[in-house]
Amino acid sequence: MTTKIAPSFLTADLARLADEVRAVEQAGADYLHLDVMDGHFVPPISFGPIVVEAIRRVTTLPLDIHLMIEQPERQLEAFAQAAGAKPAEGGPAANTDTILTVHVEACPDLPAVVQQIKALGCRAGVGLSPNTPISAIESVLDAAGQVLVMGVQPGWGGQALIPATLPKLRDLRALLSERGLATDIEIDGGVKVDNAASCAQAGASVLVAGSVIFNDAASVADNMAALRNALAAAHANP
Ligand code: DX5
Ligand code: ZN
Repeated sequence: MTTKIAPSFLTADLARLADEVRAVEQAGADYLHLDVMDGHFVPPISFGPIVVEAIRRVTTLPLDIHLMIEQPERQLEAFAQAAGAKPAEGGPAANTDTILTVHVEACPDLPAVVQQIKALGCRAGVGLSPNTPISAIESVLDAAGQVLVMGVQPGWGGQALIPATLPKLRDLRALLSERGLATDIEIDGGVKVDNAASCAQAGASVLVAGSVIFNDAASVADNMAALRNALAAAHANP
C-alpha cells in the first residue's frame, strides 16, 4: 500500500494560500493537512472554518483537519460543513473524504466525539500528543478511521522528530494488527526526507509534511518528489 503524503501549511506562504494548495495538489499530495489551533489547547492561534471553506473552493483533495483545540465537540459541525461534508442521513457516509481529528487530551468522552464526527459524514481521527500513551485511545481503536501520532510537541511546524515516536508507531501498528484493524496511522510533525522511510517502515501509512515541503531550499514540486523517492526506497527495502 502506498504511503500517503499530507502537506501541512504552517510554514507555507499563507499570503498565497490558494497557490500553495494548487502546488501541492499538482505535485501529487494525497490529502491537505489543515492545522487548526485555538491558543488554548496549544499556544498559537491559526485559523477556523472560514479558511477551510476557502480552501475547499480551490481543491477537491480530501481535507485532513487536525483540531488542536479545546472542546472540539463544539466545532465539529462547522468544520464538517466548511469542508463540504454532508451528514450521513441513513445511507453510507456522504463524504468520507473529510477527516476530522480530535486530540484525546481534549476529549473527556472520546467515544462520544468519535461517533459525533462519523454522524457528520466524516472519517474520525484521534490524535495522541507525544507524552500520551497509546492506551489512552484503546477505547476507540475499532471506531476510529485514523490515529494521528504527534512526532513533535503540537503547535509549531519545523521541529525535529522526537526519537521515541518510531517505537510508538511500531507499538500502535502491532496493536491494530492484533485486532485485525488496517486503520491509517498518520505521523504528524518532524517528518523529513531522511526519516520518511523509517516512519513508513515503523507503520505510518500517512505522513504529514510541513516544512519538508514548504521551505526556501527547493520548490514544492521538488520537495514532494524528494519525499516520494525516499518512500519508494522504503518500499523497495522493507
Ligand atoms: C504541529 C502540526 C503539524 C506541523 C507539521 O502542531 O500539527 O502538522 O505543522 O510541520 P512539520 O512537518 O514542519 O513538522
Ligand atoms: Zn497537524
